[in-house]
Amino acid sequence: MTDQIRRVFAAIFLFSLTFALLPSFSKVNGSWPSPVRGKNGMVASQHELASQIGVDILKKGGNAVDAAVAVGLALAVVYPEAGNIGGGGFMLFRDKKGEFHAIDYREMAPGAASRDMFVDAKGDLIEGEGSSTVGYRASGVPGTLAGFELAFKKYGSGKVTWRQLVEPARLLAQNGYVLSNRLAELFVEYKDTLERYPESNRIFLRDGKYFKEGDTLKQPELAVTLGRIARLGASDFYSGQTAKLIAADMKANGGLITEQDLKNYVAKERQPLHGNYRGHEIVSMPPPSSGGMVMFETLNILEGYDMRALGSNSAAKYHLYVEASRRAFADRSEYMADPDFAEVPIAKLIYKNYAKERRSTILANKATPSRDVKFGTVGGREPMETTHYTIADKDGMIVANTYTINDLYGSRVTIKGTGILMNDEMDDLAARPGRPNLFGLVQGERNKVEPKKRPLSSMTPTIVTRKDGSTWFALGARGGPRIISAVMQSIINVIDYDMNILEAISAPRMHHQWLPDSIMWESNGISPDTMAIMRGYGHIFNDNSGNVASATGIMFDEKGVRLGAIDPRSDGKAIGY
Ligand code: GLY
Repeated sequence: MTDQIRRVFAAIFLFSLTFALLPSFSKVNGSWPSPVRGKNGMVASQHELASQIGVDILKKGGNAVDAAVAVGLALAVVYPEAGNIGGGGFMLFRDKKGEFHAIDYREMAPGAASRDMFVDAKGDLIEGEGSSTVGYRASGVPGTLAGFELAFKKYGSGKVTWRQLVEPARLLAQNGYVLSNRLAELFVEYKDTLERYPESNRIFLRDGKYFKEGDTLKQPELAVTLGRIARLGASDFYSGQTAKLIAADMKANGGLITEQDLKNYVAKERQPLHGNYRGHEIVSMPPPSSGGMVMFETLNILEGYDMRALGSNSAAKYHLYVEASRRAFADRSEYMADPDFAEVPIAKLIYKNYAKERRSTILANKATPSRDVKFGTVGGREPMETTHYTIADKDGMIVANTYTINDLYGSRVTIKGTGILMNDEMDDLAARPGRPNLFGLVQGERNKVEPKKRPLSSMTPTIVTRKDGSTWFALGARGGPRIISAVMQSIINVIDYDMNILEAISAPRMHHQWLPDSIMWESNGISPDTMAIMRGYGHIFNDNSGNVASATGIMFDEKGVRLGAIDPRSDGKAIGY
């Protein structure tokens, strides 16, 4: 070899070495893809207009709870598939002193509800009008305004008025907003049921002259309702003109909700549920949501494994995840319900030693069929909808709010003269305890229909702390029982796999809810190789893949910058300032 050739080889070697020693791409602040940054505050919701309204409230001096109320009301206008004043939900937050609070504003069954109201004389489930999913009888008494007013009065900053929080939503309803392609198409997708109800048909389907992308949707009746609520507060909804209109329309159409039911509604403060994963305190929603309990049971089981060593996308990791989740969802079906009506063994279910017992039944490289998992007699179908938003303010207060009207467009009923789209939350109670529902599944006796009962939920607004106890991130999701899977896997992604909040909620996921005994998976994220290995262990995959819920979240970085993230699986925008 000549000197010249030697020099060329040496140059190539040094050149290659330099590149080998450099990281393959820049990870500024460890973040890729990058969340939205805000030094003072952040609002992450599923509609840009709603997020902007939240930021405006923060800039006026409102705190995260004030902003959460304004965002929730705005979503009732610009995100009618799930945003609402005709539904209910859960607000979890940590105040600036570091204390956690949980507000339960879940719907309540009307006073005239009864165990068998959704079955006919032959004991079969009623379909269509009169069922638990569509029409006037499907609705529980809405809780959203009671919850928002409680949050505002007790935990708001005092620097903005109730009227200031309602007014932006009222203006959007009155002046209208431009429909995205997705929102316009979604109305048409649901036309078969929306068109059965004259007010829904007129407002959302323009009596058959369907909306297109770029059209403006105005909701004048809703604007008038919001105007009254701005002036009179939630009392208008529960005992004023709006209450009268709801009760009258219900009566005229065979619905059960009366003026007395509306008067009886109360939002409740609950003790937040505390758990711990690898030294991080995690705080979430207690019953009547199953979200916190299922999540803690699953995470407690997984804590016994070195998940980091398994890698975030391996068959071995997903095998353990599915097995843990299968067991926690089996317990959900048996034990979980409204704690005001049924005994829910919360402490036992989230006890680390109980997880140890459950873990001991998990086999290496072998799926346990759901029929062999104890308490395997009940399950539950829950629909896709719901929406979650997360808000952080300049003082460190952070709010995770999930609320819903259950299915897309709820019961499809818009109450005459109000513009209010009602929920079909009665379907989250067991329409036929112990026997299959319309979807071939069975729900438990604890969650049977009873007057004033709150239906079991999967909503999982959650806050995670750093090991020093400071707030690290908060998140939640939409997507029925898949909400729990999205939240748990995002948490594992941050804690075990060092992902930032956007990476964590964007990463592929699986979902197993015990029954049916099959895995829901994401075709663009789970490789056929991984699935082949898991099939070899005995796992069954759904024929149709789909999204496993969609999440939004906010993380505080080490310098306190708020990092906002919207799941690429859904619409929305995180806006910081
Ligand atoms: N309706 C969905 C849930 O509450 O989980």
